[in-house]
Amino acid sequence: MWRVKPLDAILATAEKKSLHRSLGPFQLTMLGIGAIIGTGIFVLTAEAAQKAGPGMILAFIIAGFVCAVAALCYAEMAAMVPVSGSAYTYSYAVMGELLAWMVGWALILEYAVAAGAVSVGWSGYVVGLIENAFAIDIPDMLVRGPFDGGMVNLPAMGIALLVTALLVIGTRESATVNAFLVAIKVAALMLFIVLAVPVIKMENFEPFMPLGFAGVSAAAASIFFAYVGFDAVSTAAEETKNPQRNMPIGLIGSLGVCTIFYILVASGVIGTVGAQPVLDASGAGLRPGSPELSAACASLADSKVVCSKEALAWTLRSIGWPQIGNLIGLAAGLALPSVILMMMFGQTRIFFVMSRDGLLPPVLSKVHPKFKTPHVITIITGVFVALFAAFFPVGILADISNSGTLFAFAMVAIAVLVLRRTDPGRKRPFKTPAVAIVAPLAAVGCIYLFVSLPSETQLMFVGWALIGLVVYFSYGYRKSHVAHGSPETHELDTDAPPVPVPPMPGTDR
Ligand code: ALA
Repeated sequence: MWRVKPLDAILATAEKKSLHRSLGPFQLTMLGIGAIIGTGIFVLTAEAAQKAGPGMILAFIIAGFVCAVAALCYAEMAAMVPVSGSAYTYSYAVMGELLAWMVGWALILEYAVAAGAVSVGWSGYVVGLIENAFAIDIPDMLVRGPFDGGMVNLPAMGIALLVTALLVIGTRESATVNAFLVAIKVAALMLFIVLAVPVIKMENFEPFMPLGFAGVSAAAASIFFAYVGFDAVSTAAEETKNPQRNMPIGLIGSLGVCTIFYILVASGVIGTVGAQPVLDASGAGLRPGSPELSAACASLADSKVVCSKEALAWTLRSIGWPQIGNLIGLAAGLALPSVILMMMFGQTRIFFVMSRDGLLPPVLSKVHPKFKTPHVITIITGVFVALFAAFFPVGILADISNSGTLFAFAMVAIAVLVLRRTDPGRKRPFKTPAVAIVAPLAAVGCIYLFVSLPSETQLMFVGWALIGLVVYFSYGYRKSHVAHGSPETHELDTDAPPVPVPPMPGTDR
């Protein structure tokens, strides 16, 4: 189980694909922003406020910092091992099959559960838009999950299934469509900043940390979700021109742009409508996504932003811009499905590579004869995403997704350090600067955010990891292609179609 897939075999496989290197720094940055800006800033801002109060500004900075150092580690691996599968593949080469499997298993949380979270976030905005623009009241029963004062979130389920169908028939999001959707999201956030920031009142920042620094840490662990997606940039490494220069620009550039937007948007929310949490009788903050918070919110005479499912639109409506609030809802409604598409695509890609390595059954990498897409795995993923979206609140899904992502990021940071020691002579098109500081900071930062997640989420992660171990030892351990001495030839097996990994959305590959 400590067997590694030799780096040279991985690179040999990659070379056979020889993708056209067409992406420059601008496209990479756009790709990153396209995957990053989504439910996190549009929706989870309310949850971060419920956990930290105005101190959520610090939460945005902490989470952004951890992502930046993790991104620098990702960049070294992505440029050196420019193949699909990202953290899973790097771990396979460096830390052995069992850990690689665990990373791949954790990435299922990252991608599939995140796709569910973004679907729920989308639903909040679209429902708010319809209710406000057409003055109709859609029953909560049909647009919220059972933990959130409803029964089933039908719109969230619907969008997840629609995106699944698009992926099955092989819909590609071109770089142009991606750029257009990025423009919509950025315009919406800018509009928000322009209208909200000038009317900020400093007294709304008091008390700054009503739930102490523990609240800020908890908010940072949740709002981390808002930054996830930059790793999509690293998965495009094999299509990048001059990755030494362009990968770090794409990764750090997209993260930097988003961090600035996020801090301005969060300041706008706090400074205009206040961000004080709803407390229980003992003065503790009620947990976002809990029935208790839903009930407390329902009984408030004046609603609060922490109760909103569409924080940014709600804020604008509250400060006298109802139509622009609706416009922000429209922008989120149009642009968020592309984030769902990216996440689900990322999921199918990881499954696909794991199945190609023999760790998952070959049926999962079966390709549809007409659409040329891995339809089996796409449909299975889509059904699960739709179920998560239908029944769970956005914050809980985002936290679960974060637990998997943090594990994968920490492993990448460790892999960078290990490989510097075990294989110092290998060509590194990009080197993480000050790696002796940056990589440990990334690993420690991920651990800090992980332990700041709610304890239920941590337990869920442990449970998921245990299931993963059972699956590995009952299947992958025996079936692995590396175990059978053929780390790279499986792609050339006569009974396995020589399928390339499907193209990345948002590129023109
Ligand atoms: N960062 C992405 C979002 O916030 C996942 O929706």
